[in-house]
Amino acid sequence: MSAPQTEARVELGPLPLRIRHRFPIFQQRVYINSCSQGALSDAVRASYEQYLSDWDEYGAPWEYWVERGEAARAAFATLINAAPDEVAVTTSLSAGVSALASGLRFTRRSKVVLTDWEFPTIGQIWHAQEARGARVVHVPAADDGTIPLEHFERAIDDDTLLVSITHVCYRNGAMVDVPRVTELAHERGALVLLDAYQAIGSLPIDVRDLGVDFLGAGVLKYLLGSAGLGFFYCRRNLVDRVWPTQTGWFADENIFAMDHTDYSPAHTAARFQSGTPPVPAIYAGIAGIGLMQEIGIPATREHVNALNAHLLDGLDELGATVATPRAAVARGALMCIRSTDPQALVAALDGEGIVTSERDGNLRVSAHCYNTVEDVDAVLAALQRHRTLLA
Ligand SMILES: Cc1ncc(COP(=O)(O)O)c(C=O)c1O
Repeated sequence: MSAPQTEARVELGPLPLRIRHRFPIFQQRVYINSCSQGALSDAVRASYEQYLSDWDEYGAPWEYWVERGEAARAAFATLINAAPDEVAVTTSLSAGVSALASGLRFTRRSKVVLTDWEFPTIGQIWHAQEARGARVVHVPAADDGTIPLEHFERAIDDDTLLVSITHVCYRNGAMVDVPRVTELAHERGALVLLDAYQAIGSLPIDVRDLGVDFLGAGVLKYLLGSAGLGFFYCRRNLVDRVWPTQTGWFADENIFAMDHTDYSPAHTAARFQSGTPPVPAIYAGIAGIGLMQEIGIPATREHVNALNAHLLDGLDELGATVATPRAAVARGALMCIRSTDPQALVAALDGEGIVTSERDGNLRVSAHCYNTVEDVDAVLAALQRHRTLLA
């Protein structure tokens, strides 16, 4: 049997043609795993080289490094339509969310509502707060693989302090209807935290449109950066209402006052920061965010939706079971395919030079701006050869 021939139905713009040469991995592999990590670009590689030559040339250019941190803060703020003083520069998504959790009091309201789609770190952080009086309630998904609004309606009440949702689920690629959940939470007096890690860089995000109160993300995936850098957004009028007890000197009102005699957190979202910033990862993060802005995030979303429509057609022809919702509005960039042995399937594809990943019984195929129809066809052809591993 030959690979499914569905190419004629796809209309793709010139996006990968324009940028693919900037990602050397494509000379050797079909890389379609941006839900785990974005491909390394020439720009990010050069930023690390720049970090090393700055270090070599200037010794310890701390003022410049602090300025780089501010540039990263501003770049991320622009990306989500926030102001720089609403953004903390952190070392991971977890670090920002933990700082938030440490600053909440579970007295007047004690409940934290989260979905069963959360990344483990989110569940773990909120369950850790049970020792401090939080009551954690999970919103389950329905049998059709969505989380209907009614499930949130049942869980969010007037004892709910915070609703913690993920934008795109890392296990099945489904997208939460963030504005509707946020509206419901706000109507009931609860705050909303959005884990945007699996969405940021793959689709436009505007915190004003979404209405969320807090947002955490990092640069490792669709923002093309590397490990070690995260961001945390806090709506300006909420900053002074949270008093993080997980803290450090980079959260202080005046970092360089070097005052060890009291705790005066910044009156900006910098109060969610901690110790020495991840300077090398900041260089890389600025380069990655800049490159994604140059490539265009709305254009990337459109391109990847077209690739995923093509992938879906091919998967249907193969008779595969797709765990991701079919409607483009109900999913992110990540597509998940049921497998009888996902680890074996990832290894089999890897043996053919195709890089994917797996979670929760699913093969994860996550295209980005640099992927082509040929990449998707290579995945489909390989899946056909390993048909026995599809569920
Ligand atoms: C949805 C989601 N949230 C959080 C994380 C982890 O973030 P961090 O390690 O920066 O805390 C990941 C990483 O894969 C993720 O996919």
